[in-house]
Amino acid sequence: MLNYMKIWRYLFLLCVIVVVTFAQTIQHCPQPENIRPCTCSVKKFGLDIICEFTDHSHISSAMTALKAQQNTIIFYLKLRHNNLPKLQGFIFLGLVVQHLTIHNSSLATVEESSLSSIGKGLTQLDLSQNSLTYVPSSALVNLHTLIILNLNRNKIKELRSRSFAGLDTLEILNLYENKISIIDPDAFIGLDDRKLRRLNLGGNLLTSVPTSALSSLDVLKKLEMQENKITSIQEGDFEGLKSLDSLVLAHNQIREVPARVFSHLTQLMSLELEGNQITHVDPDAFIGLEENLQYLRLGENNLHAIPSDALRRLHRLRHLDLRSNNITVLPEDAFNGYGDSISFLNLQKNLIKVLPAMIFDNLNSLQTLNLQNNKLMHIPEEITETVIDTLGVIDISDNPLICTCDLRWFSYWLKNLKDKDDDIMSKKKTVCVMLPENREYPVQNIPLERMGCVGKTGRISAAGITSSFSFDIIKLILIIVTAAVL
Ligand SMILES: *[C@@H]1O[C@H](CO)[C@@H](O)[C@H](O)[C@H]1NC(C)=O
Ligand SMILES: *[C@@H]1O[C@H](CO)[C@@H](O)[C@H](O)[C@H]1NC(C)=O
Repeated sequence: MLNYMKIWRYLFLLCVIVVVTFAQTIQHCPQPENIRPCTCSVKKFGLDIICEFTDHSHISSAMTALKAQQNTIIFYLKLRHNNLPKLQGFIFLGLVVQHLTIHNSSLATVEESSLSSIGKGLTQLDLSQNSLTYVPSSALVNLHTLIILNLNRNKIKELRSRSFAGLDTLEILNLYENKISIIDPDAFIGLDDRKLRRLNLGGNLLTSVPTSALSSLDVLKKLEMQENKITSIQEGDFEGLKSLDSLVLAHNQIREVPARVFSHLTQLMSLELEGNQITHVDPDAFIGLEENLQYLRLGENNLHAIPSDALRRLHRLRHLDLRSNNITVLPEDAFNGYGDSISFLNLQKNLIKVLPAMIFDNLNSLQTLNLQNNKLMHIPEEITETVIDTLGVIDISDNPLICTCDLRWFSYWLKNLKDKDDDIMSKKKTVCVMLPENREYPVQNIPLERMGCVGKTGRISAAGITSSFSFDIIKLILIIVTAAVL
């Protein structure tokens, strides 16, 4: 009996909640002529207002029309491509706005009281592609529910002390493509350092890692500093960032990865260093990253060899990208000690001439191998033998390959792919040069006898026969068993 009453009480409560929520979400747009040239539509959680290619006076009168309605909830207020150099005080007073965008509108001044009146409900603020030369801190200080702040593509030169004070719920801060060269050590103080998860400082003018400013961000997960002018990184630079799982330093001017530089980043899963000028990776460069690093991008640098000594400690590494370097020689033990976990290996656009016999022997998890655009003339069957069964993608195109029986494995592999209906690779034409005539032929079209395979038996063809044979036997057994059961 008691239980029944409980259930009814819950049901009643549920009904009340549903009715209240429903009543709250029913919203009406003002008459179109009252907000023109802005437009309004009703979305699930409130109104969606868009004002484009207009100016302050029109936007201001549209806001007045919206304020005249009772209980209006604006879910999206999007002001784009306008002429709005100054956001005037109290322009939104009396409105509830959850997501505010002022984009590509020449915004240079944000008056202190313009945003504070909507501080209670605002969760996202996008001021991207405007003319701000500083962070409008005094206008932001009351935004106590803000989760995302986007200041991308402005002209901010400097992050002063306590630039974001008051934004105690902020989780994502984007400052991509500004002109930031100076970051005060206290720039991020006042952001609740237990909340900020993503920080994008890419596309700025930083010449070094702003260590002291960053060091308090101890729950930060992703830090992007790509496309800056950072010339060196050193031990201690990332001190304090103990939760970081992704660090992007691509497209800077880093020349060297010194010992222990990432030693504080024990949670790091992904490290992007491509597009620098790295010639040297210290054997102790990746100390600290042993337990978690899975993705490492070192492409578009100046490495002359695979930094195997540094990589050996990374026993969780899955994705290794070394494309567009100056790697000429691969020693036989290049992947010893850490190759086991690698599933993606990119060596394209290097200068590799020869693959030593055992080079891929312990790459037991390899699924994608890219050797495109190197100087390889031969890729003998023995080399790929150990990885061929796990590989889903292998690219050997744009090499000066010579058509010999050596390459037979590749045509078998391609044919196998076709059976599997996986044509990503077979669409790409891999050619080899037929020596006496010096002409190029697509590898998959050359008859085996023309590749000089007559009389030779290979592992792959034999294995192919065995496997299809045993498959037939299994089918037969299955049929017999099924028949017996029936
Ligand atoms: C920015 O806004 C102006 C109008 O103020 C427009 O002409 C221009 O195309 C916009 N730019 C972009 C990239 O949208
Ligand atoms: C790397 O190779 C490219 C092209 O082969 C060459 O232009 C460049 O000078 C080389 N860099 C170094 C540091 O050897």
